[in-house]
Amino acid sequence: MPLVPVKELLQKAQEGNYAVGAFNVNNMEIVQAILAAAEAEKAPVIMQASQGAIKYAGIEYIYALANLAANQATVPVALHLDHGTSFEQCMKCIRVGFTSVMIDGSKYPLEENIALTNKVLEVARATGVSVEAELGKIGGTEDDIHVDERDAFFTDPEEARYFAEKTGVDALAISIGTAHGQYKGIPKLDFPRLEKIVSLVNIPIVLHGSSGVPDEAIQEAIRLGVRKVNIDTNIREAFTNACRQVVMDNPKEIDPRKVLAPAREAATQVIRQKIRVFGSSGKA
Ligand code: G3H
Ligand code: 13P
Ligand code: ZN
Repeated sequence: MPLVPVKELLQKAQEGNYAVGAFNVNNMEIVQAILAAAEAEKAPVIMQASQGAIKYAGIEYIYALANLAANQATVPVALHLDHGTSFEQCMKCIRVGFTSVMIDGSKYPLEENIALTNKVLEVARATGVSVEAELGKIGGTEDDIHVDERDAFFTDPEEARYFAEKTGVDALAISIGTAHGQYKGIPKLDFPRLEKIVSLVNIPIVLHGSSGVPDEAIQEAIRLGVRKVNIDTNIREAFTNACRQVVMDNPKEIDPRKVLAPAREAATQVIRQKIRVFGSSGKA
């Protein structure tokens, strides 16, 4: 089936109290792994392209791969721009055929973030494309950041209410203690803050930096109202570790297919396990 908007998937997740997995794509094998996992689990799924993926593969290649996967799929597949940096980049993705864009204005002051988000929304609404925004700052691994300082980056519930009122985005990424990349310790999520945000904001909430967060914590976040869970690092780890293993076991191997096929399979297994944790198995 054709690529679907993220909004549709999140609305169903809201009704069914589960979360849709948003998995980062970087190459053909990862696209295939996400699709294989979603088909095996009969789950709706979001493929998303980060800034790094766009630099590596380009918007058109990523679209072509995801679009092909969606057209072959029996489950709904959406294609989303992850951490869109500008109005222009969002427009480019919309023109190419992405069904959802994130405009990440979290580094700007509140009113600027709102204005930028609304500018993207105006075009997206006219084209049926979904929009995710971000409020609060989601860092990289925060080892050097003191806890008090870390809390200052967290999403303020009242600001979230105001932001939702002024924009009406389809999904809102918040900061409650997760970070992108590998964690050194076990991340501690601020559940009371999440609960407060959900009580004030009637928009599906997105959890970024979800790799390495314990399954029980992810499930508690979903119970409280998270509807989109972003996973990148755990896929990269599984993929690259599998490549490394093949090369170490067979130092003379020169066929990339022999290296990449086990990596694709390893990624598929990780994604299937995440889909089960998110409760989206069987929801296609
Ligand atoms: O946005 C979160 C991604 O995990 C960062 O990915 O290094 O490909 O830009 P990137
Ligand atoms: P991880 O790499 O920590 O899974 O984060 C992914 C993410 O939030 C993409 O936006
Ligand atoms: Zn992110």
